Amino acid sequence: MDSIHIQGGIPLQGKVRVQGSKNAALPILAATLLTGGSSFIKNCPRITDVFAMIRLLKDIGCRVSWQESGLHVDASCVDCREIGTEAVTGMRSSLCLLGALVGRCGSVVMEHPGGCVIGERPIDLHLEALRQMGVQFREEEGRLMAAADRLCGAKIRLPFPSVGATENVILAAVLAEGDTILEGAALEPEIGALCRYLKGCGAGIEGIGTGRLLIQGGRKLSGADFTVPADRIVAGTYLLGCVGTGGSVFLEDAPWEEMKSVLELAEHMGGKICTSGEGVYVQAPRRPRAVECIRTETYPGFPTDLQSVALAAAVRADGDVMIRETIFENRFRVVEELRRMGAQIQVQSPDTVLVRGVDGICGVPVEARELRGGAALVVAGLMARGETTVTGCRYIYRGYENICRDFRELGARVTGA
Ligand code: EPZ
Repeated sequence: MDSIHIQGGIPLQGKVRVQGSKNAALPILAATLLTGGSSFIKNCPRITDVFAMIRLLKDIGCRVSWQESGLHVDASCVDCREIGTEAVTGMRSSLCLLGALVGRCGSVVMEHPGGCVIGERPIDLHLEALRQMGVQFREEEGRLMAAADRLCGAKIRLPFPSVGATENVILAAVLAEGDTILEGAALEPEIGALCRYLKGCGAGIEGIGTGRLLIQGGRKLSGADFTVPADRIVAGTYLLGCVGTGGSVFLEDAPWEEMKSVLELAEHMGGKICTSGEGVYVQAPRRPRAVECIRTETYPGFPTDLQSVALAAAVRADGDVMIRETIFENRFRVVEELRRMGAQIQVQSPDTVLVRGVDGICGVPVEARELRGGAALVVAGLMARGETTVTGCRYIYRGYENICRDFRELGARVTGA
């Protein structure tokens, strides 16, 4: 079923465990290709983007199977001769296979990963960085052909800390001849998780958590067991859902050390936060307090992936809230749906909206058009009086294992797939 039905107006109460991180799991699954053996990836989220990545890994020769607590990936039989065909099709997150397959097989053909609803999603930074390592690119009829006679380590500086470009350089560098120094690397925690997995496989990587990475090349990697960290964006979705509905929840396993900007926003909106080794507890006031401005930034700033959810929570604030999106060029699509629920939102410029908080919004049918905007509509439905029906939920299932089950565990009246 592609729709979720919510009887809103109920403050979230209770405890829920936070799933594994989509944006950590996807590059780690791509990285299994760099080993000649088997890995066991625990806490891998059962989401449609992971299912799609599994299909791609199987298409290129990996043996992949779910076991009780995780995913077993055997990359010993990747047949590089097959890679010259249409190896990688669909799903933008497959872009991280570019670096892994060039590293493992020296070439790859893939559909040019186009843009999406939230932006054009160019890949110039990926291509420029990999060219410096000896990769040559050709484009033919929407297909991207990448090949390197010799993949060599290089000194690379990213002009913008692109998460995906950082991941592709790391994935290409671990098997390249010679060392790579990457400056201007993204600092997102998912990069650290990828590096820790690769080190577990025998890679030599220094500077993890900083913007300057030294990646030793030419090592033979074995498989490794690894546990995917909890998803900071899913945790932030539920935390801001609690703020928007005026509830009190405990988020088990929430990686709060990676969520400081989100916890800070929740406190400024009136939430009382308590963190521990087991997770984070938040108690929110009946109505969110207005904050002057929410501005998205690269890590450790406020994450762009929580901008839509923060916008939803802000529609009930006790004043005006400015929201600035500095990462993607079209991440306010959810505004029109929130307005249909009674939210007062003015678009001041392509990157800025002004929310004039209202005490109540109404449940109506709304449509999700992308992953995080869809999650924001579910949060708005929880806040609204009456019934909200969210369609287009296939987008939500790309990143949330079971948003209906999780919110039901927090006392919400939600039905759906
Ligand atoms: C990753 O996307 C995440 N996806 C995104 O999460 C997240 O929003 C983004 O990082 C920023 O944190 C995955 O990890 C699978 P970027 P990515 O390269 O790698 C521009 C979600 O909802 N840019 O850091 O594509 C780009 O257009 C998704 O889970 C270039 O101009 O993000 C954007 O404006 C959405 N040229 C900005 O940089 C390039 O070559 C950030 O992009 C690459 C990027």
